[in-house]
Amino acid sequence: MKQYKIAVLAGDGIGPEIMKQAIKVLEVVEKRNDVSFELQHALFGACAYFKTGKSLPEETLEICDKADTILKGTIGLSHEETLKIPVEQRPERGALLPIRKRYNTYANFRPVSLPRELSHFSPLKSEVIGKGIDIMMIRELVGGLYFGEKERGVDATGKRWVKETLEYDEDQIRKILGVAFRTAMKRKKVLHNIHKSNVLLSSILWNEILEEVSPQYPEVEIKHVLVDAASTALCLNPAQFDVMVMENMFGDILSDQGGGILGSLGLMPSACIGDTKSYFEPSHGSAPDIAGKNIANPYAMVGSVAMMLDMVMGLEEESKKVWSAMQSVFAAGYSTPDLSPAHGEGKIINTDDFGDMIVKELEIL
Ligand code: IPM
Ligand code: MG
Repeated sequence: MKQYKIAVLAGDGIGPEIMKQAIKVLEVVEKRNDVSFELQHALFGACAYFKTGKSLPEETLEICDKADTILKGTIGLSHEETLKIPVEQRPERGALLPIRKRYNTYANFRPVSLPRELSHFSPLKSEVIGKGIDIMMIRELVGGLYFGEKERGVDATGKRWVKETLEYDEDQIRKILGVAFRTAMKRKKVLHNIHKSNVLLSSILWNEILEEVSPQYPEVEIKHVLVDAASTALCLNPAQFDVMVMENMFGDILSDQGGGILGSLGLMPSACIGDTKSYFEPSHGSAPDIAGKNIANPYAMVGSVAMMLDMVMGLEEESKKVWSAMQSVFAAGYSTPDLSPAHGEGKIINTDDFGDMIVKELEIL
């Protein structure tokens, strides 16, 4: 039997509620496959800071180091609560970015996917959606502005200034482009390269490396799109995209837009893949305004489990079943309150019920 140690970092806000549903799904998978999951819960984010003085405590790091993979919920508190935490310990800077850096999870996969039957969730017109939306956004996750040198100061006249640098070296670019090409090869063999080479030197280097890498993948058709134009195109004609690749900050922004065209960020799971360790998390935040109310949408969290089953455990069939279980609950007219129900007559369900319904569907698949 294959055994996996999974570090479970439920985090803040709605994190624990949606993580609970993810665990229900893992239990079903464990029951009917030759695998066992050892879940190790650890503090992470603002809750960790208030308990231990650190948003990423040593003990959590040890658990993550020893784990085969990491399942992460959401982090962050309301603006007022965040102000009580010193800047360096705030969950994004103090916990999330260090995890990305420590395990060098450079390849962030963010599927922007909505089957035709669920197109009523999208704010886009049905003729724009066509046969459904199915895009894989690939975001470089450990470089660029997020991790470049940062400096702030005050000049001789008292004027405050700040400088942050967008840094990449060619190896980092080559690695993420390799991931993108290989993903395109498994899908439609079309790769949209998102850049801003009319302004940024970093995009010029990025595109040069792309020219060097592309001969290894002669079957992949490359389409270059400036990031601002890509943002418009995502709204006007999302069907033209299949695999998109981009640097860190572009990916942060366009992937949230991806959630927008689906109808909710609650539909955006993600996988953060490194050479030796990967972690899985919803792309959305901790929604402190609805935390504890049992109304959050667990789709992105459970979708992240589906990605983990496929990408870490090689349980491709189970992964597909988790997706279809979630989608059949939606297709039956149920939805969490963040989504617009089918033709105004759908049934609104809460987080726990959604989790239970996924389990029920999954059990018969
Ligand atoms: C994301 C989030 C993070 C990011 C935040 C929480 C630091 O927005 O994963 O997209 O900007 O990468
Ligand atoms: Mg983001």
